[in-house]
Amino acid sequence: MSRALFCGYGWAARTLWRPALRDVGFVEFGALDSFVPAEDLRAAGADRVHDDLSSVRKGDYDVAVVATPNRSHVDLAVGLLERGIPTVVEKPVCLRLDDVNRMREAAGRGDVPLLRSRSTHYEPHLVSYLHQVRALSSARPVRLSIAWTRAQGLPRSRWLTRASHAGAGSSIDLGWHLLECVFEVTGWTPLSLTASEFIGGAGDEGRASWHGAEEYDAAEPVDVDVAADLRFDQKGGDVRIRTAWVSVREGDEVVIDASLEEGHVRLVTLFGTSPSSSSTAYVETESAGGAVRSRLPSRRPGDAHTRMVADYVAEGFSAARLGQSWEQLEMLAGATESIVSHHARWRAAEAQG
Ligand SMILES: NC(=O)c1ccc[n+]([C@@H]2O[C@H](COP(=O)([O-])OP(=O)(O)OC[C@H]3O[C@@H](n4cnc5c(N)ncnc54)[C@H](O)[C@@H]3O)[C@@H](O)[C@H]2O)c1
Repeated sequence: MSRALFCGYGWAARTLWRPALRDVGFVEFGALDSFVPAEDLRAAGADRVHDDLSSVRKGDYDVAVVATPNRSHVDLAVGLLERGIPTVVEKPVCLRLDDVNRMREAAGRGDVPLLRSRSTHYEPHLVSYLHQVRALSSARPVRLSIAWTRAQGLPRSRWLTRASHAGAGSSIDLGWHLLECVFEVTGWTPLSLTASEFIGGAGDEGRASWHGAEEYDAAEPVDVDVAADLRFDQKGGDVRIRTAWVSVREGDEVVIDASLEEGHVRLVTLFGTSPSSSSTAYVETESAGGAVRSRLPSRRPGDAHTRMVADYVAEGFSAARLGQSWEQLEMLAGATESIVSHHARWRAAEAQG
């Protein structure tokens, strides 16, 4: 029998994780959610409900999934790991480099693994793209530019547009996925943020409900970026990440451009769970021999997350077998800490007018 505990029983836990775990044989689910009444959690499929972590014991669950607002991830993960429960944390796993040490020590005390949710690794179009990049060159790209543009407007979420809960806006929400992609393409080499530009100031009018069910408090102003342009140095290589929740495009799009000594490889696709229509996906390689464009097969939104969950279960939630390490998490956390810090400086400057 396989049992999972969800810390935070909101959209990601109910829609992404629970069905995917069920599909691979999980039969019992617990829920710990500070803001949803126990009867609602039970009605939504929780077999056990916990008010807090004190009633969770080693052996109660085979895995716990932390899917709460970003800033609460680390405290929950530390509590679970210390109790000896293997733990997967949704993105962004953490917002500070020090948090990695806290989780590493807790995992050591509990003698269990910490995994990060990293669905982009399972995006079939990214896998095709990596093949093309490696076929052209074994060297790190001289320049890498990666952008995720959403067209549907601001998320109608109770916390995602508040820095106190989210850390930052699109730069972290979409940016963490893009950081994972950068490291997939360039190899695991630390990034240092050299320049940033954030766009904010969106009113409530542009708000959209991505998943249909979110509520939000209209009195709460949006104090995070709705779009960002981030420039990094990666040991002499230039990396640029652009994110946007609001755009003038029709449909969402992810574009990756890698410039190598031998040529250029571009991917146009869409990642994640967005039901939005997107342009036709393709990968295009330009080299001395000319430009070759290949269309990519269509993908189903959310498929990569489902495949990720199946792989985690098949590999027994072993970080080593899944190719995850503390060093990788340090690189992601280091880059994220610098984004959050630039974002805080931008907000302070905006507040001063
Ligand atoms: N991998 C992906 O593609 C993906 C997609 C969506 C969301 N996410 C991530 O999942 C997390 C949750 O996002 P969501 O869209 O499900 O949000 P959500 O608002 O739908 O759900 C969050 C739930 O956490 C609960 N909660 C808040 N603080 C808590 C606390 N301290 N302890 C316990 N429960 C608490 C809330 O009541 C809510 O039910 C976020 O970190 C988000 O970035 C990842």
